[in-house]
Amino acid sequence: MKKKKNKKIGDVIGKNKGKSWLYTGIVKDHFFHPRNVLLDETNYQYDGKGIAGNPLCGDIMALWIKVDPKTQKIKDCKWRTYGCASAISATSMLSVMVTEKGGIAVKKALNLKPQQIIERLGGLPELKFHCSVLGLDALKEAINDYLKNKETK
Ligand code: FES
Repeated sequence: MKKKKNKKIGDVIGKNKGKSWLYTGIVKDHFFHPRNVLLDETNYQYDGKGIAGNPLCGDIMALWIKVDPKTQKIKDCKWRTYGCASAISATSMLSVMVTEKGGIAVKKALNLKPQQIIERLGGLPELKFHCSVLGLDALKEAINDYLKNKETK
């Protein structure tokens, strides 16, 4: 009888588990060609801004969103990070995910999980899973900032 492999979602470590890492072509593409980066927010009119940091590695992420007031969908998502390759790739993919096909509703975006980003990237090395959380945390901060601003208008 064949033994079933216990593969985790998004785990692309393979046979070198714990010793070496393998990035997928999608991860590399988003690292070398990150989408929706905002280097200077001075003239960027946003509806919500979020900043998140990872106390373990010291990496930090800033993210801005624009929301369509009629549909409550995210129509633009920009970000900038002092972070690692995985954080860059994951946040680049996240920015695509929340704006594609007319944008995702803000309430729905609050329920996004890191696994969904990892799946779209075709996997991440297990030790880098936490890097996919950085952009998501910043997005949730930005949405909460937007909702708070909306209440006070
Ligand atoms: S090592 Fe800090 S986010 Fe990746």
